[in-house]
Amino acid sequence: MRGVDTVTATFRIDRDAKGGPGFGIYVHWPFCLSKCPYCDFNSHVRHAGIDETRFSRAFVAEIATTAARMPDRMVSTIFFGGGTPSLMAPDTVAAILDAIACHWTVAPDVEVTLEANPTSVEAARFRALRSAGVNRVSLGVQALDDAALAFLGRLHSAREALDALAVAREVFEHYSFDLIYARPDQTAQSWTDELERAIAEGSQHLSLYQLTIEAETPFAALRAAGKLAMPDDDTARRLYDSTHEICDAHGLPAYEISNHARPGAECRHNLVYWRYGEYAGIGPGAHGRIDVAGARRATATEKHPERWLMRVEQMGHGLVTDDPLTKGEQADEFLLMGLRLAEGIEPARYTAISGRPLDQSRIAMLAQHGLVETTPTGRLRVTAAGFPVLDAVVADLAA
Ligand SMILES: C[S@@+](CC[C@H](N)C(=O)[O-])C[C@H]1O[C@@H](n2cnc3c(N)ncnc32)[C@H](O)[C@@H]1O
Ligand code: SF4
Repeated sequence: MRGVDTVTATFRIDRDAKGGPGFGIYVHWPFCLSKCPYCDFNSHVRHAGIDETRFSRAFVAEIATTAARMPDRMVSTIFFGGGTPSLMAPDTVAAILDAIACHWTVAPDVEVTLEANPTSVEAARFRALRSAGVNRVSLGVQALDDAALAFLGRLHSAREALDALAVAREVFEHYSFDLIYARPDQTAQSWTDELERAIAEGSQHLSLYQLTIEAETPFAALRAAGKLAMPDDDTARRLYDSTHEICDAHGLPAYEISNHARPGAECRHNLVYWRYGEYAGIGPGAHGRIDVAGARRATATEKHPERWLMRVEQMGHGLVTDDPLTKGEQADEFLLMGLRLAEGIEPARYTAISGRPLDQSRIAMLAQHGLVETTPTGRLRVTAAGFPVLDAVVADLAA
């Protein structure tokens, strides 16, 4: 059985078999040119500039320390996320990829994704980033409407985004782009038109997120002051439903609650997370799930960029969390991640992780309400009706 050591009944990642969860490396670049008013990611603006050579050396050092703890892995995916990694000098990206290849074996078909903002300045770097080893870009287009882009505080226009997409198409084997919907005043018709135009761009992969108001962002303050009229639940649900209908009709089904792809073009790195594979987090505020001496551990590094830098310079790593996970915690995480996927989970793997099977009476109850189903191959998955209430479904199964 893939991914499960049936002899010891301990969970083990199948690193070699094609289609196994694999081993991914997440690299966080924490800087942006400006802070978008909806964003609560670990991103910082440094008007005085940053010492990129120093940061590059620290990334390389943290990779070496991490690899010493968990050697003998085959790296199947690498993801540069942010912040805005398209602001990194291509030489920095190359140095990080070299360090990864120096300490681990890199799979010949490794997926190397980099998140890019679609300004003309960044698009001009795409070729150099390709030469550095990036083979997939994920572009933060967010909207194809200039007024919406201004509202979202973005630094690019719709024209610039379309131009950046054209460059990405030419330079990279794979590209994806993100849109944010359920924006204030967005009608079902205007979103349908925008999504149809986006799909016409021919991307094999789209990430479509509903605008979320995160605590302590400028948008949260605006909403608290009654100045941000967000769509009500019914409208948001209509927008979600039409998103899925339109993408299905164009051969881009949701393989995860917010991610759509032509079959075969799924983001392999994100699949490592959702299939509860093993991944190392490198850089400020990066999270990891790694197996050390038979135990699965949750890791996280210092979030503040310069404090992370100093920790790495002093200790070789920026870890502030490095905790073993109990079987129960692992089982909950496995459910939380796996049920986001259209393919669902393998119940036997849940049993191997947690040491006990899923509660059949709860499954039966949820199935009766049409929220989950068992596939002919025995996988458990959330139905189209269940996805909009995914949190409640997971909470019920995990309880
Ligand atoms: C943190 S960003 C990093 C990529 C890049 N800096 C950018 O902005 O395009 C990753 C994606 O998260 C999504 N995102 C961030 N905050 C969000 C929010 N509050 N609501 C919905 N989507 C959000 C955006 O679509 C964005 O492309
Ligand atoms: S550019 Fe991306 S990471 Fe940076 S603030 Fe905006 S949404 Fe957040």
